[in-house]
Amino acid sequence: MEKIQRPRGTKDILPSEFRYWNHLTNLLEHIAACQSFKRIETPLIEQTALFNRTVGETSDIVLKEMFFVSHKEGESEEKEGSLALRPEGTAGVVRAYLEEGLSQEPQPLRLYSLGPMFRHNRPQKGRYREFHQFGIETIGEGDASADALTVLVGWQIFNALKLKKEFIVVINSIGCNICRPRYLQKLKNYLKEYLELFDEETKNRVSLNPLGFLDSKEEKYHSIVEAAPQSLDYLCDECKAHFQILLEYLDELSILYDLSPHLVRGLDYYNRTVFEIRSKDDKTGKNALLGGGRYDGLIETLGGPATPAVGFALGMERVIEEIKESKIPIKKPPLGEVFIIQLGERAKKRAIALISQIAQNGISVNSALSKDSFRSQLRTADKSGARLSIILGARELLDHSVILKDMKSGGQETIESDKLIEELKARLKIKEE
Ligand code: HAM
Repeated sequence: MEKIQRPRGTKDILPSEFRYWNHLTNLLEHIAACQSFKRIETPLIEQTALFNRTVGETSDIVLKEMFFVSHKEGESEEKEGSLALRPEGTAGVVRAYLEEGLSQEPQPLRLYSLGPMFRHNRPQKGRYREFHQFGIETIGEGDASADALTVLVGWQIFNALKLKKEFIVVINSIGCNICRPRYLQKLKNYLKEYLELFDEETKNRVSLNPLGFLDSKEEKYHSIVEAAPQSLDYLCDECKAHFQILLEYLDELSILYDLSPHLVRGLDYYNRTVFEIRSKDDKTGKNALLGGGRYDGLIETLGGPATPAVGFALGMERVIEEIKESKIPIKKPPLGEVFIIQLGERAKKRAIALISQIAQNGISVNSALSKDSFRSQLRTADKSGARLSIILGARELLDHSVILKDMKSGGQETIESDKLIEELKARLKIKEE
C-alpha cells in the first residue's frame, strides 16, 4: 500500500522536541505578561480578501503563497467569500479588534498571540509551509516610545534565551503616505536602468512593487539593492523626527541596532518603522528570527477609524533551531517518574487503582499493563527513564503493601500501601502545596 506522508514543508513536532517548545512558549508568555500583553487567538481560516487588502495584492505572500480553502457544497464562494489559511497574524488580530469592539477597551491595547501560519513557499531549512509565530501588537499608540517598547520585547526575548550566536536588531524607516511616493519614484527610476538584467519574474515585481525588490534575498541582485536610493533620505519632517526619537529611545534602553537603509519587509501594511532581529552572520535577513514594524493605516484599510499600531512576529521553528544549536540545557519534564509493574490479574486491578491515585496526587506515572512478565516490564521501566518502580505481586496484595524499587541504585524495600504516596513525594521531592 502506498504510504501516506505529511505534506511538503510541514513538520511533525515529536514528543522529544516538546521540551524546547515548552521552554520557548513559557519564556515568551512570561515576557509578554511582564509588559501587560494579553492573549488573543483568531481563526486559522479567514476571508482571502482580508489578506489581499492588508498584506497587499502585490506582495509575494498574496501573489504566490496563499493556501486556499474550498467551500462545502451548499456554501458558495459568492455568498461566503473566498477563504484562505492565514499566512500571518496581524490582519486577523486587527479584524478581530474591529469586529469584537476591542477599540472600546482602554488604549493602547496590548495583544499577543501564538499559533500556526501557512505559506505556500518553496520549502527549505527555516522556511516551512506550516510554521508557528508568536506575535505582539500594540494598537492605539502612535508615539515612537511604542515602537521602542515593541523592539524591547524582542530584545528581551533574545537576551533571556541566552543563545550562543550574537543577534542584532536591524531597523529602518520607510516613511508614510506623504513622503513615500517621492521615494518610490526615485527608486523606480533607478531600477529602470537595470531592467535588462532582470528575469521576467523580477521585472514584473519591479513594475508592481518596486519596494518589494529591495526585499530580494537573491545574491545576484545584492549589489543593485546596495546601491539603490534609501528611504531615509526622503523622509518628511514628521517621519524623520519619529525615527530619530525612536533611535534615542533604543540607545536609552541599551539596545544594539544596525541601521539598515534598504530594509523594507515583504508586507504592504507597514509605514515608518520596520525592523528585524537576525543573527549577526545573516547579512541578507534570509532567516530573520523576528520581524515587525508600524502599521498606522491598517485599521482604516479595514474600515475602522484612523488608529496607529505597531508589532512584530517571531518564527518559533527558527528560534527552536537556534536553541538546539546553542545546546542550552533544558530540563526534561518530570514524566513517567514512577513505573507500575504488576504480576497477575488481581495485581493488575490494584495497579489500575494505584495509577489513578498516584496521578491524582500530581505524580507522573507510567505502565505497560499488557505485559505479563516481570522482566519485560522492568526493562520497559528502565528504558522509559522511570526513577522508581512499584512492584505489585500476590504477597503485596495480601499484605496491603508494595515493593518500591529505586531504578538507579537497584535497591528496593517494602512499603505499606497507606504510606506509598507520602514516600513517593519524599523520594521525588514534590512539595506539598
Ligand atoms: P514576517 O516577517 O512575514 O512578519 O514573519 C515574521 C517571522 O516569522 C519571520 O521573521 C520568521 O522568523 C517567521 N517566518 C516567516 N515565514 C516563515 C516560514 N515560511 N517558515 C518559518 N518561519 C517563517 C509577519 O508575519 C508580520 N505579521 C509581523 C508583524 C506583526 N508585524 C506587525 N505585527
